[in-house]
Amino acid sequence: MPNFKTLDDLPADLTGKVALVRVDLNLPMQGGSASDLTRVEAIKPTVLELSEKGAKVLMLAHFGRPGGARHSALSTSMVVGDVEGVLGKELMFIPEVAGPVVEQSIGILRPGDIGLLDNVRFWPGEEANDPNFAQSIAAHGDFYVNDAFSAAHRAHATTEGLAHHLPAYAGRSMERELTALDSALGNPETPVAAVVGGAKVSTKLDVLQNLVGKVQHLIIGGGMANTFLAARGVDVGKSLAEHDLIETASKIMDEADHSGCTVHLPYDVVVAKEFAANPASLRTCNVHEVAGDEMILDIGPLATEALADVLKTCRTLVWNGPLGAFETEPFDTATMALARHAAALTQEGSLISVAGGGDTVAALAQAGVTGDVTYISTAGGAFLEWMEGKELPGVAALSA
Ligand code: 3PG
Repeated sequence: MPNFKTLDDLPADLTGKVALVRVDLNLPMQGGSASDLTRVEAIKPTVLELSEKGAKVLMLAHFGRPGGARHSALSTSMVVGDVEGVLGKELMFIPEVAGPVVEQSIGILRPGDIGLLDNVRFWPGEEANDPNFAQSIAAHGDFYVNDAFSAAHRAHATTEGLAHHLPAYAGRSMERELTALDSALGNPETPVAAVVGGAKVSTKLDVLQNLVGKVQHLIIGGGMANTFLAARGVDVGKSLAEHDLIETASKIMDEADHSGCTVHLPYDVVVAKEFAANPASLRTCNVHEVAGDEMILDIGPLATEALADVLKTCRTLVWNGPLGAFETEPFDTATMALARHAAALTQEGSLISVAGGGDTVAALAQAGVTGDVTYISTAGGAFLEWMEGKELPGVAALSA
């Protein structure tokens, strides 16, 4: 577990101090407003705590990928209304990140007020992690709080650089993420099971390679499982599979064998001749009976039951990626069943369950178990890099 300071290490009275708080407001938008406010909910405790202690809170955030130039559609002003709604407080929008406009705005803000600076990625110094750019921002603050775990895999000026210019603290959401992730892979109760699903092995090679050395059960699902089945000599018909990665998949399974990790692949599957909701050609069969014109779209009921039994023997579960093509019925069946099973075990107190990644969060929501697992990460790319065993620069800088 990295050793970092938290808001508990700040004085109780912050009246008039300027807090520079990195948040992740990279929100999915639909028709001019955010379609998912999870990330805003996540930063609320930190922002309100600092505000209640009397600090002038200046939020720093990126929004999209403007590539170092102003782009009006990617101004953080686009999310002011959404953020105000969640925080229940008015924000001052400041269309800069450093300089006289920021200084004047700080003069206008009263203790406890909250400001939102413009998209930090409008300036090339952000992604270049330019120390001069970081210093120009740092000059306005008394201390820096990073509450953006989901951007901590970026070594940018406001996610990493600022920590070298000001006293640095992890915000409450960052703290919760790091504690939960540590309990899942850093210092977990064993046995640990990992579910890794999704379409392609190629996007999760590093994840798989890291996990085989850390977990006792590796459950592979989604299109990825087909490549592993092919590596075991199974004819997967016209299923999505990366045949050029068959050798890599074999090596991963060998490494797993050596390190005492059991790789779970389905032995029955749900197949169809076309990918559509409830197709006429739908059937369940043994993996060795997939016809040349069929594709595997979900794992079957026997395999799902076997996985549920595996989870009963485990103390910790880390989950990234669905088991089947869960957006289309009935290929959500296995993912929904295993998600509900994991949630029930968590509620009974026998399993610590941590999940992350866009598809996984959507799948858990679809299963109606969002509130019943131990922890759901707000991060996408950062969660994956953490599963790959990489040190996240934003986290490392907090512990320096
Ligand atoms: C995210 O949305 O996952 C984070 O905000 C990081 O965004 P990025 O991939 O543009 O760096």
